[in-house]
Parts: sequence; structure tokens; C-alpha cells
Amino acid sequence: MKGKVALVTGAAKGIGKEIALELATAGARVYANGRTRESLLELLNEAKERSLDILPLPFDVSKEEEVIRSIDSLETVDYLVNNAAVCPYVQYKDLKEAHWDLMFGINVKGTYFCTRHALEKMNAPGGSIVNISSGAGKTGGAFVSMPYGTSKAAINNMTITFAKLFASKGIRVNAVSPGFVETRILDEMPISRDLIRSDIPLGKIGLPQDIAPIVRFVLSDEASFMTGQVIEVNGGDVMY
Ligand SMILES: NC(=O)c1ccc[n+]([C@@H]2O[C@H](COP(=O)([O-])OP(=O)(O)OC[C@H]3O[C@@H](n4cnc5c(N)ncnc54)[C@H](OP(=O)(O)O)[C@@H]3O)[C@@H](O)[C@H]2O)c1
Repeated sequence: MKGKVALVTGAAKGIGKEIALELATAGARVYANGRTRESLLELLNEAKERSLDILPLPFDVSKEEEVIRSIDSLETVDYLVNNAAVCPYVQYKDLKEAHWDLMFGINVKGTYFCTRHALEKMNAPGGSIVNISSGAGKTGGAFVSMPYGTSKAAINNMTITFAKLFASKGIRVNAVSPGFVETRILDEMPISRDLIRSDIPLGKIGLPQDIAPIVRFVLSDEASFMTGQVIEVNGGDVMY
């Protein structure tokens, strides 16, 4: 990925942080997005220690003007990873309009805004986008909020539509769809780690390090014949 420019949203922690480190280790210049510059300090310190080319790009993905201003400041974009999302757990009958607005605003509209504006800067052919979806986008389920699962179903659909729109330009758009991964999101779920683990055929909860290399591969030219796909990475939790 030497000479390539990547933008990773929600890179302050968890899976996004690991993806930023993975792409920079592969040689890309990575713009790491987070809501604030302060939230990115841990990643930036780690990047400095490892001599990785990671630069902060703080903005709120759900605010289109901030997205435009930030993406306009970039020289170019080769790779975009739409990873930022929120997942507060609320039972279906306690959901308020504000919960729907929050999860759709960040997870769905944020993915759309970043994709829409990064495409203006994207090198074609060869540009590549990965949306971080969730197994809940296909299976639904009682362990996540309804707006979260439906937001990820929307992302799967948006992935296919953007893939169809940009395939002729040589820009690929795919989704990587994790199952249970050890981040703070699991703390928000009404289910114990032991119960989660007992249901996963490979017998373990995933780590961000199990997801990041798949994202790197799907972004890279090695996956040049793959577009419009939703790739499940879940320890066999769901098999189709
Ligand atoms: N962990 C799992 O089991 C799992 C399973 C399936 C899918 N996923 C997906 O994986 C992705 C990463 O999740 P994670 O588990 O790593 O969760 P996480 O640790 O909560 O990370 C989410 C990141 O997104 C950022 N973010 C939230 N709202 C934002 C906004 N408006 N603008 C910019 N950044 C924003 C957060 O920043 P702050 O620190 O400022 O809040 C945080 O750094 C998400 O798309 C999630 O849906 C996770």
C-alpha cells in the first residue's frame, strides 16, 4: 500500500484503531478520523512509537459540512473505511425517536456522507471502499438495538448500490461484517461473554486483529475481482 492514502473513520478505538494501524503497517498514509483530536492521541502515540504514517482528521461523520471540509483538505483518497458507528442497547419498546436519529445519523448517514464526498477525491481505477457492517444487519437479533441492526442492513444495501454505480470506473465497494468482537460495544449488550463464546463454533470472541487484515485484503488490489460483497467474519457464528 506504499504511496496510497487511506481514510478510516471512528479510528480512535476498537476495530477502527486496529484497521488504521494495519493499513499504515502495509505502507499507506492513513488519515485517522475520530470525533475529537484528543480521542485520537492514543493511536497517534502508538503510530509515533512504530514510525507509522498516521495523521489525525477529527470530524463528526454525521455532520455533512464537517465531512466536506475535512475530506476537501486531503490531497487524494485511495481507500476509505467507513467504520464509525454507535450501538447503545435499548429494548424495542423503550426506543425513542432520538435513538433512531442517533444510530441512523451516525451509522447510515455518516457512511453515506463520507462515501459521497470521498468519491470526489478517489483515484480511479483502483479506489476501494470498505464499509464495516455487522452480522446483525442480516440476522437481526435480540442482543442489539433494532435501530442498530436495521442501520447495518441499510449499510449492506448502500454497499451494493455504490458498488453498482462505481464498478465501471474501477472503484470497488464492499462490506466487512464482523460477528462478536472484543471492544466496548460488547459491554453494551445484554448478554455475558461466556454465553457469546459458547455459541461461536470457533470457540472464541473475535479481536480487532481478526478483522483488520481482512479489511486490508479487501481494500487491496489482491481483491480486485471483488465488489458489492458483504463478507462475514464471525468465527462461524452465522453460516449461510
Ligand atoms: N465489536 C463488535 O462486536 C462489532 C460487531 C459487529 C460490527 N461492529 C462494527 O465495528 C465498527 C467498530 O466498532 P467497535 O466495536 O470498534 O466500537 P467502538 O470501540 O465503540 O468504536 C467506534 C468508534 O467510532 C467512533 N465514532 C462514533 N461516532 C462517531 C462520529 N459521529 N464521528 C466519528 N467517529 C465516531 C467512536 O469514537 P468515540 O470514541 O468518540 O466514541 C469510536 O472510536 C462499528 O461499525 C461497529 O458497528 C462491531
